[in-house]
Amino acid sequence: MTASNTRVLPFSDESIAEAARLILAGEPVAVPTETVYGLAADATNAEAVARIYAAKGRPSFNPLIVHVSDIAAAEGLAELNADARGLAERYWPGPLTLVLPKRDDAPLPSIVTAGLPTVAIRVPGHPTMQGLLRASGRPLAAPSANASGTISATRAEHVLKSLGGRIPFVIDAGPTEVGLESTIVAADGDQLRLLRPGPIDLGLSLATGEKVQAPGMLERHYAPAKPLRLDATEALSQEYLIGFGPVRGDASLSTTGDLVEAAARLFDLLHQADASDAQAIAVAPIPAEGLGLAIRDRLRRAAHRETA
Ligand code: TXA
Ligand code: MG
Repeated sequence: MTASNTRVLPFSDESIAEAARLILAGEPVAVPTETVYGLAADATNAEAVARIYAAKGRPSFNPLIVHVSDIAAAEGLAELNADARGLAERYWPGPLTLVLPKRDDAPLPSIVTAGLPTVAIRVPGHPTMQGLLRASGRPLAAPSANASGTISATRAEHVLKSLGGRIPFVIDAGPTEVGLESTIVAADGDQLRLLRPGPIDLGLSLATGEKVQAPGMLERHYAPAKPLRLDATEALSQEYLIGFGPVRGDASLSTTGDLVEAAARLFDLLHQADASDAQAIAVAPIPAEGLGLAIRDRLRRAAHRETA
């Protein structure tokens, strides 16, 4: 089974080895989990994560779930309080995602969490995703493996129909067992909060203002505290200019005008500009195409001073 440049192989030691090779080369690959097929990339590599967005054609950034092989690996990335540990021990591996405070020394670029201080982590139960985690030795960021605005893929054929020609490789392990995305619970404060209902019912109800109904709908995104001006070709006084392409600025998203590089650097540079001595932030024009759409969407929201 192939669709213009996308290879599909059944789950085997060979297909896992090939997928791991692509992951380490910074490419996204589609693999089944017990819930839905995921589009996985090396969570420690910002440009690899940016390529997930490029492949999905998602016109906005959303924090991604980081998949790890076990609780010990989760502890290398995030802080688990007693509640979180209890849930992890009971439900992992399985269709439960925990939103946890990110460790300061976690090797996760800011594009993974869309600039947030928390990180969503899951230990999947599926042998294919587990095999890829072990073979690559990397935490894997993975949203559902479907084009933006389409339904999640529960079969390799769905992935191919949606992303064929846009990703190099799919591992086919048949239909997923659960068919519904994981339950998401935040354990980043005193109380557990349900962010997305799913296969595991913990008896929690969706808190008001926490309706993460659909991807991209997350209400609490990172936003800089300073006013932000778009499509700036030079800095006004007291402005920190984030450059792109020919617009140099105080720091550049990409001096060569590469949108993958720009997406990978976006949240870091927003944080840097926010922490600078300047009173306001300006950003050079970003083309409204491909990943540029997601970058522009994020900047537009930041410019509207949404509440953090
Ligand atoms: O079953 C699943 O969870 C699948 C498989 C592939 O693991 N993945 C999945 O990912 O559904 P995605 O990207 O489609 O959904 C991730 C959800 C988004 O709604 C996102 O807003 C939320 O997780 N999320 C991720 N990080 C978060 C954070 N730090 N705080 C709050 N919500 C977060
Ligand atoms: Mg999704």
